[in-house]
Amino acid sequence: MDTAEIKQRLKRASHIVVVTGAGVSAESGIPTFRGPDGLWKHYRAEELATPQAFAKNPELVWEWYCWRRGIISKAKPNPGHVAIAELESRYNDFLLVTQNVDGLHRKAGSNKLVEIHGCIWQARCVKCNAIEQDNELDYRNIGPCSRCGGRKRPNVVWFGEPIPPTRLNSAFSAAESCDLMIVAGTSGIVQPAASLPFIAKKAGAYIIEVNVDTTPISAIADLFLKGKCGDVLPGLYS
Ligand code: OAD
Repeated sequence: MDTAEIKQRLKRASHIVVVTGAGVSAESGIPTFRGPDGLWKHYRAEELATPQAFAKNPELVWEWYCWRRGIISKAKPNPGHVAIAELESRYNDFLLVTQNVDGLHRKAGSNKLVEIHGCIWQARCVKCNAIEQDNELDYRNIGPCSRCGGRKRPNVVWFGEPIPPTRLNSAFSAAESCDLMIVAGTSGIVQPAASLPFIAKKAGAYIIEVNVDTTPISAIADLFLKGKCGDVLPGLYS
């Protein structure tokens, strides 16, 4: 398929869903989770990203999240993030479903988005569930909940935890009703996000995948665009 055909596809589409993963932020200098330099090569998810890990060693978990906050705080949205925000402005019916917790999509101007794995810049009280903005970069300064004094945790979804139903429902219903889905920079193996392209495909949507490598989603993608998000995504509409 040539570029003119891709642009035609995008022009004809009226309800678009974009699903993103860590690959979209890679060009902003934020490490992905899998692959040779992925975070899970150097760290054990079960010691850092599970409710059990937090119950056992909250300081260690906060130290790791504050270290990641430090990296993210220096990062800027890249042309991939900007292209997705630009796409949003061209459609009335648009939803971005991101697994990323870094907040870079918002920084790039995306408004119609669901952060299904939460936001690293928020903390949630384990006692009263109050959510507050939390920009602290030093784990030793993470204080108690300002409402009830309970222990705060990062407001992200960990392994073994359900995605809050409102976020999940928005993502699933958009996938069921879209006519075009772009899946960018995700390994497509963490559920339930990984099932969104399959739901969309079953409902008749055209699936475009953008990735530097093939994934389990590639088998059902109508179009696989091999390359970096920052290189490929701006070319979809420009
Ligand atoms: P992964 O690290 O699993 O996958 C990143 C994907 O991006 C891979 O398929 C890479 O080939 C691709 N990639 C890397 N750089 C790219 C680039 N510049 N342009 C395009 N593609 C690129 O990240 P996710 O799929 O987001 O969850 O991982 C899903 C979830 O697993 C995360 O949200 C996180 C993690 O454990 C939790 O922590 C709950």
